[in-house]
Amino acid sequence: MQHFTSVKDAYNIDKLVNEALLMKKMPYADKHLGKNKTMGLLFFNSSLRTRLSTQKAAQNLGMDVMVMNVGADSWQLEMNEGVIMNGDKAEHVSEAAAVIGQYCDIVGVRSFPGLVDREYDYSELVLKQFMKFTGKPIVSLESATRHPLQSLTDLITITEYKTVERPKVVLTWAPHVKALPQCVPNSFAEWMNIANVDFTIAHPKGYELAPEFSGNAKICYDPKEAFEGADFIYAKNWSSYEDYGKILSSDPAWTVSEEKMKLTNNAKFMHCLPVRRNVVVDDAVIDSANSIVVQQAGNRVWAAQTVLKEILLTQM
Ligand code: CP
Repeated sequence: MQHFTSVKDAYNIDKLVNEALLMKKMPYADKHLGKNKTMGLLFFNSSLRTRLSTQKAAQNLGMDVMVMNVGADSWQLEMNEGVIMNGDKAEHVSEAAAVIGQYCDIVGVRSFPGLVDREYDYSELVLKQFMKFTGKPIVSLESATRHPLQSLTDLITITEYKTVERPKVVLTWAPHVKALPQCVPNSFAEWMNIANVDFTIAHPKGYELAPEFSGNAKICYDPKEAFEGADFIYAKNWSSYEDYGKILSSDPAWTVSEEKMKLTNNAKFMHCLPVRRNVVVDDAVIDSANSIVVQQAGNRVWAAQTVLKEILLTQM
């Protein structure tokens, strides 16, 4: 594995999931692989799970880890090439990324979309510039359009908890007070579309994901219908792709409630976290025995560790 920025870098998702589940049983079996190697974690945005789980994963593989909040701890970076840098950006990504590449063997980057200019966000400029100038493998810690470490985690978790060979998995939009990116649903859809699951995406009209992500998923516009017979309910808010970055609905009928969960096949409840209680999901659901959000977050370590191991093996 050279980089890890989307499902396309995974090659064989079943192999990755099996490897992760094995790693979960023997977390330190590969501690020699990262000896004298350094992982750099660059955050343009806040994080709890991605930051801690990736650091733990790298440490489990014997790597040293350096973490930086870009912009807050370092200089503001200019991403565009050929510009006259007479504004507030003190350093160009071409030097910054190249210098980071001198210190690190693998570099993780988190950079959210601005949700103003769809073309700019979907061009993934920040990720592409780091891939261009760092000269080292780049791992997406959530980019403008995808969150692949989260999606691998989600598939690991579904594989662990499924009770039928081909479960019905429902990605359901839920209300939120802020306009959120499409990264998690885009990425989840991209992975579920090639996994052995019966996949439905449910959302109000106007919240269609880009067709390259929704793929062949069944689309449902009814907040209850999609839940019928579901084995997994994966809740997430996202802002509109079509009316880019806008909130079009705050209809509480889309909140995940006990009443809707009763329509399912005793479904497990999943969410990538952080989650707004009683907006996205009712307390009664997230506090129920069917909620696996904490176990899901725990699996972030094994997803990250599997990806880092694959990259370290490529470097040998
Ligand atoms: N799910 C997730 O990426 O969590 P953080 O934003 O806390 O890293």
